[in-house]
Amino acid sequence: MNPKLHTPVCDLLGCGLPIVLAGMGGPSRSELVAAVTKAGGFGFLGMVRESPELIRAEVEKVRAAADRDFGVNLIPAATKPDLLAAEIAAVLAARVPVVCLFWDLSAEIVKRLRGEGVLVVCQVGGLREAEEAQEAGAQILIAQGVEAGGHVRGTIPRAEIVRGVVKNADVPVLAAGGMSSGRDLVEMLALGAQGIVLGTALLATKESFAHDYHKQRIVAAKPGDTVHTQDFHVNWPRGAYVRVLENSVTRGDQGDPFSGKREAIGKEGERTIWLFSTDSPLKDMTGDFEKMALYAGKGAGAIGDIPSAADRIAAIIAEAESLLPKQGEAAAVAGENLSSPVCYASEASDRYAGYAMREELIAFCNELLEAERAGARITARSAAEAADTVTRDLLRDIQRDESRWCAMLLKWIGHMEGEPSAKVGAFYEKCLAFTDLKERIAFINRGQGWVVKKLREMLPKVRDDRMHADFKAMLESHEENIRRAS
Ligand SMILES: Cc1cc2nc3c(=O)[nH]c(=O)nc-3n(C[C@H](O)[C@H](O)[C@H](O)COP(=O)(O)O)c2cc1C
Repeated sequence: MNPKLHTPVCDLLGCGLPIVLAGMGGPSRSELVAAVTKAGGFGFLGMVRESPELIRAEVEKVRAAADRDFGVNLIPAATKPDLLAAEIAAVLAARVPVVCLFWDLSAEIVKRLRGEGVLVVCQVGGLREAEEAQEAGAQILIAQGVEAGGHVRGTIPRAEIVRGVVKNADVPVLAAGGMSSGRDLVEMLALGAQGIVLGTALLATKESFAHDYHKQRIVAAKPGDTVHTQDFHVNWPRGAYVRVLENSVTRGDQGDPFSGKREAIGKEGERTIWLFSTDSPLKDMTGDFEKMALYAGKGAGAIGDIPSAADRIAAIIAEAESLLPKQGEAAAVAGENLSSPVCYASEASDRYAGYAMREELIAFCNELLEAERAGARITARSAAEAADTVTRDLLRDIQRDESRWCAMLLKWIGHMEGEPSAKVGAFYEKCLAFTDLKERIAFINRGQGWVVKKLREMLPKVRDDRMHADFKAMLESHEENIRRAS
């Protein structure tokens, strides 16, 4: 795989590919989340307004089906306080490592989740909101464009909001809204996003929990068939826009959505589905699906089939690979370009006795990158297995550090115009062999010790002050983590 398709956020989330399944309330259930994570992406269970029992059951089902990290999506503003408190308690008790929040920002909830060691992702629809989310402690931002399916937070086109959020953010940014192709992915990476979030394109897959009617309507949709409307509002905060496929409601055939009329149009078990409500047709529902909210992003017109999630993701990656320069080409370009931002003695005349040359530094960074990636992955996985909070917090902290260093190493490889490795070090598999967590942590400490040794050897040979400072910070952080784990 092209290493450009493994971005720093992948190491933070513990996935291989920069493709994230949106936490669609209803369609994003365990089967889809497991399929996406097994295919190399990252998935959020869409658990808005779901009971703690369902959250527990769905988390268990994903864990039984796939051994990768995943997250849960919640929407505080659309959930009654008691239920929200119970949902958060269930998420924390189940030790879900990542939570995605959407709609009105609650700094208090972000803080609470972070305090429990959860990685917090916030989806935003504007630049001010992005700043506020970051100030509140969001560790990843999703910049949602107006092209998005489902609830649409802002009015800014995707490319514009991504550019703006990336410019001001210190944390990784993912792009959302109206995407379904490898070209979309490459374009968003070019704008500085570290990956893409897909809703509609993964709703129209075999494993999603959406009703077949909804999937088929997406397949039948043509470009321009979506509507940005407030018509579906029952059980949501007032004034919220959604993007849906045109139907009898959006055409006005069902009357005024704000007249107060209450008409039952379906059932999900004992629960009634009301006309103008935000419920979309799901596998376990019966009723008049045509009248329900048929959420779809502007990319729906480009979706022509209902494959498995793995096939959808593989097609996106294959197209992205075909559009990105091949490894050799990139290296050739780098070789020609001697006026790169930081010319690490790539020219013979710039040799300083004792200093590491560009090639050596790139190889060094790649060796550490593979090791840190393995470290991030094994600590994420082990944290999910830890029975007590002290061990879990320790492992989560180490995981965050390891992914931070992955990002730092990638940055320097990029500066030197080297090719970043996409590999995960063999350390990961070796660590997995230890089933006893204490033994595994001891082994992780030995791995950290190896990194310390490597950094100590390299530091005197690093001439650039900023790189030196970064390596030194990495060394100190590893020493501190070794001490804590011991
Ligand atoms: C059916 C559907 C349900 C959605 N439900 C949620 C939700 O519960 N929580 C959330 O954060 N976003 C939700 N979204 C919005 C997504 O997070 C994301 O912004 C959107 O799907 C991206 O646009 P796309 O559908 O064109 O890919 C939903 C989207 C769809 C299509």
